[in-house]
Amino acid sequence: MDGGSAVSRERFDLDEALKEEIRAKVLGEGFMKIVQSVRRGGAQFRISVRPVEIGGVRRYQAEMVEDGQVRVKNFDADGLSAGLEEIIAQKGARDLHLMTAKGDLHVRVTRKGRVVVSRSAEMDRKVDLKPHDRVKNVPLNAFDSSAYMKAAGLADGEGRVRASMRGKYDQVNEFLKVVGESLKDRAPSRDGESEDGRPFTVVDCGCGKAYLTVALYLYLTQVLQMPRVHVIGVDRRADVVSAARRMAAGLDLAGKVDFEESDLAAFNAGRADMVVSLHACDTATDEALAKGVEWRARYVLSAPCCQHELQKTLDDRGAFSGVMRQSILRERLCDILTDSFRAMIMRILGFRTQVVEFVSSEATARNIMLKCEYCVKPGQTGPVSEYLALRDYWHVTPWLETRLGGLLAKHISRFE
Ligand SMILES: C[S@@+](CC[C@H](N)C(=O)[O-])C[C@H]1O[C@@H](n2cnc3c(N)ncnc32)[C@H](O)[C@@H]1O
Repeated sequence: MDGGSAVSRERFDLDEALKEEIRAKVLGEGFMKIVQSVRRGGAQFRISVRPVEIGGVRRYQAEMVEDGQVRVKNFDADGLSAGLEEIIAQKGARDLHLMTAKGDLHVRVTRKGRVVVSRSAEMDRKVDLKPHDRVKNVPLNAFDSSAYMKAAGLADGEGRVRASMRGKYDQVNEFLKVVGESLKDRAPSRDGESEDGRPFTVVDCGCGKAYLTVALYLYLTQVLQMPRVHVIGVDRRADVVSAARRMAAGLDLAGKVDFEESDLAAFNAGRADMVVSLHACDTATDEALAKGVEWRARYVLSAPCCQHELQKTLDDRGAFSGVMRQSILRERLCDILTDSFRAMIMRILGFRTQVVEFVSSEATARNIMLKCEYCVKPGQTGPVSEYLALRDYWHVTPWLETRLGGLLAKHISRFE
């Protein structure tokens, strides 16, 4: 940096020459980033704007941080120019840092209104329009996800995946891959719209902080290019629902990604095309599967979490007493049986069902997913007799059977 010059001006105002210099650097060739932090009454507001490439088109991404909340917006060149005038006209003590390929400009306006300007020596830097963390070929890198990643807290201010969030980042990526695989054979005419004219509707059951919910919307619209998509996240916790709503609003997705504070059992979407759940606790996974059936979803993708229901009712079965004596093995066996019953019930109800490891066990020990697509005739003999044989061996009634009541009973009663 050069020595810097101090110029006293009308309080907080930049002089015209400095304003012009900032405009020329931001609107001209080689613009990399402008960041302004304003301190007022103990609070801090920070805005940063940088060029990005979205779908091969140059855009400008503004990130605004206030009271710990992050909002992100993308602009065209006109939007950049208008936003820049607001940055320049800002009053109060502030720091402005402007980076171009040729060097940096720092402007500090003190509380007394003194304007201190310093410039770096001339540089020759390369302007990189690519969002960060683009190394791997994963769904969250197939579009400009940097705004989402920061708003969700998956990435830090520089766009790097936070070490503590790596597991969730991997889960979301791998979940999106399964979504992409499931939808790859959809007829183009049905893309983004259901037969009755509704948008392609996805319900995320037990959405929590909406990492997956919001990523799903962005992936379906930006990567799979589905034109009309509505994603609804449902969770019974008020705090996570308000945080999720704030995130969606900050990303300009209100009305496209909505959230309902509700117990899953009490929520009715009417119809849905896809129902997903990622680690919805215990029987909430069964509730998600049941909702997928009742809302006549074509796709039901569910990664179960902890499961306790069966543990309460499973007795020692002859040769299994040695397994059941060890609590960890008993727990694992219950997990396996619960997911087996779930998969078998979904098969009976007309869903082609695969049980897959959707993500590595390093990202989560709960890495099983039930991947179901409604595409076969319900109530076929094979799946029903397989289900009854296992159920009757263990002398249990899986919770999902009870939950589905008549919808399942009509298929199995004639074999009992
Ligand atoms: C382990 S968190 C997972 C959140 C999110 N899907 C994710 O992967 O980050 C489970 C969430 O399911 C919600 N949940 C559990 N049972 C529920 C129910 N019966 N109805 C609605 N939400 C439920 C919890 O409040 C919690 O936010």
